[in-house]
Amino acid sequence: MVPDHLDGADVLVKDFIYYTPTEVVFGRSAEEHVAELVRKHGGHKILVHYGGGSAKRSGLLDKVCGQLSEAGIPFVTLGGVVPNPRLSLVHEGIELCRREGIDLILAIGGGSAIDSSKAIAYGVPYPGDVWDFFCGEAKPAAALPVGCVVTNPASGSEMSDSCVITNEETMDKRGYSSPLGRCRFAVSNPERTFTLPPYQTAAGVTDIMMHTMERYFSNDMDMDLTEALAEALLRTLKASALRALANPEDYQARTQIMWGGSLAHNGLTECGMQRDWACHKMEHELSAMFDVTHGAGLSALWPTWARYVYKSNVDRFVRFAVRVMGIPAGAPEETALRGIEAMEQFYREIGMPVNTTELLGRPLTDSEIEEMARRCSHDGSITVGNLRVLTRQDMVQIYKNSRA
Ligand code: NZQ
Ligand code: ZN
Repeated sequence: MVPDHLDGADVLVKDFIYYTPTEVVFGRSAEEHVAELVRKHGGHKILVHYGGGSAKRSGLLDKVCGQLSEAGIPFVTLGGVVPNPRLSLVHEGIELCRREGIDLILAIGGGSAIDSSKAIAYGVPYPGDVWDFFCGEAKPAAALPVGCVVTNPASGSEMSDSCVITNEETMDKRGYSSPLGRCRFAVSNPERTFTLPPYQTAAGVTDIMMHTMERYFSNDMDMDLTEALAEALLRTLKASALRALANPEDYQARTQIMWGGSLAHNGLTECGMQRDWACHKMEHELSAMFDVTHGAGLSALWPTWARYVYKSNVDRFVRFAVRVMGIPAGAPEETALRGIEAMEQFYREIGMPVNTTELLGRPLTDSEIEEMARRCSHDGSITVGNLRVLTRQDMVQIYKNSRA
């Protein structure tokens, strides 16, 4: 059905640039192409960068390294990336790449291995400290090319322009976004995600859905195609999460999740829309302070955030309730609230926390809340969010309400 206001009436769709240069090779045979992709994207000597052990246990690391050897591509390896990846390993990676004359970085893993690789890629050609980029004190003029073999569809880092690193000395978790950071290629085989623990599967789906929701919960309501794509993505992810949790080897469900993860954060669901990102920014403070899984931190905040802001755009929450959560349309405010409740119920069904007390096993203290709001608002100098602009005081209130 063509929406009424596409009949020529004045609409206010935002101009946009859609830039997604990543070559995605997807499916059961995707890994066969790694060496060929490395060559195609300029790798003569590469760093293979991975996490704590899942890539070793599954045999993926050996398979990729074997393929590189066979193709005559020299490489060095650096493992040990942890969730919420650390700056110290990034520094180590930068030194290693310089010493070895590396010209391409291949990440094997989820968002953490990919982000750590992107940060190393920014740091190698930069004479200063790579952390400068994350503090807004410098901008990279160049970066090494990065490719990845995805094992955890969650962050969308394989197609996003972002990179999130934790400085463990200052306990700051910060993101940096630049087109230079986009992966040149991403190799995605849904079978590799069969081994994900249920908690990571659920946290991954939560993160993927949130990447779209951060754009969907907008005050711009004139971009019907983007909104409809977002709604389809959210409905599909919801159904696929339940299937993948019931049967971890459900290839079709894993495929929807993996491809959904890439589309949710490559810019497709933001064309013509305003971005919000309040939940992400507030979550990054939680994962910096408590080292929690990012997706679980998001589900612990979203219901509280939604109830705090929904009156700023009831229509948007109604549309979400009806088109994504399948709630029959009724009185607007009641429908909006029923949609939020339904989302909360979905988080429960997939085993995600719906408040910060469930997330941490104890309530946040007032001083922890003040500190997170202080950091998130840069000492009260910035706001977050767009659907409703949140000040430092709003952040304090949301963290407080999130204790439930
Ligand atoms: O380290 P290993 O042993 O590989 O284990 C990982 C890790 O413990 C495990 N895992 C990954 N693939 C697996 C597997 N276990 C079994 N089978 C597999 N196939 O899962 C755990 C989590 O992995 P991680 O990479 O940390 O998770 P995720 O992909 O969720 O990435 C999280 C990081 O990405 C950032 C987050 O803040 C967090 O630091 N984000 C990055 C974004 C971006 N660059 O665009 C956007 C996001 O909003 C997010 O902020
Ligand atoms: Zn995220």
